[in-house]
Amino acid sequence: MPGTSNIPDDVDTDDCLLNYSYIFSPDILKDKVAFITGGGSGIGFRIAEILMRHGCHTIIASRSLERVQASAKKLTAATGLRCLPVSLDVRQPATIVAAVEATLQKFGKIDILVNGAAGNFLCPANDLSFNAFKTVLEIDTVGTFNTCKILYQKWLKEHGGVIVNITATLNYRGQILQVHAGSAKAAIDAMTRHLAVEWGPDNIRINSLAPGPISGTEGFRKLGKGLVYLS
Ligand code: HXC
Ligand code: NAP
Repeated sequence: MPGTSNIPDDVDTDDCLLNYSYIFSPDILKDKVAFITGGGSGIGFRIAEILMRHGCHTIIASRSLERVQASAKKLTAATGLRCLPVSLDVRQPATIVAAVEATLQKFGKIDILVNGAAGNFLCPANDLSFNAFKTVLEIDTVGTFNTCKILYQKWLKEHGGVIVNITATLNYRGQILQVHAGSAKAAIDAMTRHLAVEWGPDNIRINSLAPGPISGTEGFRKLGKGLVYLS
């Protein structure tokens, strides 16, 4: 029943906030540029919106050009900042290279990379096909590495910057039906630590950000209720 638990009512569209209370100075990210994979929906969309509300221009990237185009329109209308929608598949480095080159042509720099692209579903380990396990590792883990490496080579190595990898908390203690996603996210956390020490001297700060269940997202729709009942 709506409104009877601690879990907020779910929503199935990505829209900008009607009200926003600033914690930080509104211009704390003035004229910065952020490249956000998975930025057309869910958590990535909201990250794009909040960065833009603080003065940052964004590039939102995912496979569906239609989705990122529609989201970019909403984000620009709500914030007045520039948002470039681009299509890429994080499993295909050539598509990332093209998107990064288009970004640099348009904005001249990239200060922040947010790796939010991911794929997931609930499935018992014994029922996962080999390809299903591999697919989630390829999107989440390999996709994050591909994007980090290309951004590093094309911009961050020479200019420094910030990388935020979106991971998860479910893998901290183990969770049924999630061996694929949990393994993928744990590997990203390890990647974050390795890159932090290797790229720190290049003035690159890299962190993982691990949300718990967030309602109104595809992740919550796919996993939230199932895991609440099953855990
Ligand atoms: C079991 C499944 C499955 C399911 C797909 N597969 N869905 N197996 N249960 N529900 C299998 C397929 O049968 C296939 O294996 C393999 O996975 C690849 O499937 P494709 O459909 O070909 O892959 P693709 O088109 O690349 O799509 C990837 C996807 C899809 C992950 C399957 O759901 C997707 O694009 N998701 C993006 C959005 C999303 O999932 N958002 C939620 C993020 S939430 P076979 O053997 O048949 O070839 C999140 C929470 C984090 O990440 C918590 C982490 C702990
Ligand atoms: P989401 O809206 O489905 O976000 C995933 C995004 O990744 C989508 O925009 C999708 O767009 C994109 N994507 C998927 N495969 C891609 C690929 N191969 N190449 C490029 N882009 C791809 O789900 P969400 O729930 O908001 O999740 C966002 C992030 O938070 C994910 O990293 C997720 O693991 C993490 N997370 C979510 C929760 C939660 O409760 N929602 C909890 C913990 C962690 P396209 O389909 O257009 O490609």
